Parts: sequence; structure tokens; C-alpha cells
Amino acid sequence: MLKAVSLSKHFMGIQALSDVTLEVVQGELLGVIGPNGAGKTTLFNVLTGLFAPDGGRILLHGRDITRLRPHRRIRLGMARTFQNLEIFRDMSVLENVMVGGHSRLRAGFGRSLFNTPAKRAEERHLREEARMLLERLGLRDVADEQAVNLSYGNQRRVEIARALAAKPAVIFLDEPAAGMNPKETEELSELIVRLKSELGLTVVIIEHDMNLIMDICQRIIVMAEGRVLTAGTPQVVRKDPRVLEAYLGSEE
Ligand SMILES: Nc1ncnc2c1ncn2[C@@H]1O[C@H](COP(=O)(O)OP(=O)(O)O)[C@@H](O)[C@H]1O
Ligand SMILES: [Mg+2]
Repeated sequence: MLKAVSLSKHFMGIQALSDVTLEVVQGELLGVIGPNGAGKTTLFNVLTGLFAPDGGRILLHGRDITRLRPHRRIRLGMARTFQNLEIFRDMSVLENVMVGGHSRLRAGFGRSLFNTPAKRAEERHLREEARMLLERLGLRDVADEQAVNLSYGNQRRVEIARALAAKPAVIFLDEPAAGMNPKETEELSELIVRLKSELGLTVVIIEHDMNLIMDICQRIIVMAEGRVLTAGTPQVVRKDPRVLEAYLGSEE
């Protein structure tokens, strides 16, 4: 469904991505791993439109989206979460999720200046959908709490719910288990697998927790120093000596 061809991106002398070519297949759960600084987050930033690449192309169902703004990509079915938790701390859990729904509305912010009946109906609909999502993510009982009062694990779930409120076809999760304890991590991996099958999602996940990655991913892309080192099934990647080497090399 998504193709990146020869992407490159640099920041003041750092080549964060070089000649990155990859494909995301509809319906798969794809892992992206690699040592710190490998370019994983930059890859997500470029794929979702936060940064423009210096070179290369991105195709969604064959359509060139390389120059589209992030909100346009959201409407085309691409949603994400961030490595550093980005929830609205002063809003309720429900409101956080509704923000994600707003991103896909035709009217956008322009019409929301006016309190028309159509807008109120839209708002009601969003609220209803957000409640259903919260139920699905096991957050129903905390829907009206301030997001900041939730446990870290639940705040991560709120961020996922907000991304899902945009009704994406593909969701990019950037280290969703970071900072979670083993029990939260286990529950998260079950949640991701369940959401994928219930919502027919395609999932691309960056994660340092190798057990989680090896456990749930059908395919893994390994990055190192801004490049795709290798890609394959968990079994193949696990045995590839270059992968271990990349991790050891980065420790020096
Ligand atoms: N906004 C930015 N400004 C400057 N340098 C950046 C920026 N984003 C990433 N980098 C640099 O690009 C490289 C890849 O970073 P990143 O994509 O965050 O790696 P990863 O997610 O694999 O740890 C690193 O050297 C990082 O410091
Ligand atoms: Mg990162």
C-alpha cells in the first residue's frame, strides 16, 4: 500500500536517511528496528509528512504523496503516535481522542468557528465515536479524567486512541512500549494485535523491546546509520549476524 523509493534526509551534516527504499504491505504488522540514531523516527517523520525528504519519493496506493502536508496524509489514511508522548495533558481523555477525529472532518477548523446545527451534530458524532474507541482500548472508565492523571501506560493508549480516531488504514507507532513495565508491555502487544485484526489495520511499529517485535511482527526492517540494513521475517532477522553487529557497533 505504501512505497518509499530512495529517501534521503540530512540535518546539518548528519545523514539521517540515505537511499531508503521500502514497502509496507496492506494488512501486515511491520517492525522497524535498529540502534539509537539509526534514522527510524526520521523515517516516520518523512513518511507522515512532518519533514520533507531531500530526495526520493513516497507513494500511497501508487499516488505520489511526497509533498503532501501531514493533515492531507491523515485524511488519506495515515496516522501516527510519537516517540515522546504527545497528549494534551490539560484535556480530558475523551477530548484528546476527539482531537484525532477532527483531523479527518471535511469542514476542518474553518466551519468550527460557527456553532451551526451541522457542526453540533458532527461534534456529537465525534464524541460517540471517541467513546466507542475508548471502550475498545479499555479506557472507558477514565474517559472524563484529565489525561495527565492517567498512568503512563494508559496515556500511551490515549495517544493510540487519538491516532485511531482519524480512522487510518495504516498506523505508525514510534516506540509505544517505551517506559512501560513488562506487564504493560505485554498488554500493549496484545492490544496492537487485536486492534489490527478488529479494525483491519496495517501497522508499522518502531520498538526497542525485541520480545515484543519478534512476537507480533510478520516482517522486520532493520536500519543502521540511516540505511536499511536488511529486512525479513523475525526468524531470518534474528539470525542475521549483521544485525547484532549493528547493535554492538553502536555501543562503542
Ligand atoms: N530534527 C532534527 N534535527 C537535527 N538532527 C536530527 C533531527 N531528527 C533526527 N536527527 C538526527 O538524525 C539521526 C537519526 O535520528 P532518529 O531518526 O531520531 O533515529 P532513531 O529514531 O533511529 O533513534 C540522529 O543522528 C539524530 O540526532
Ligand atoms: Mg527514534
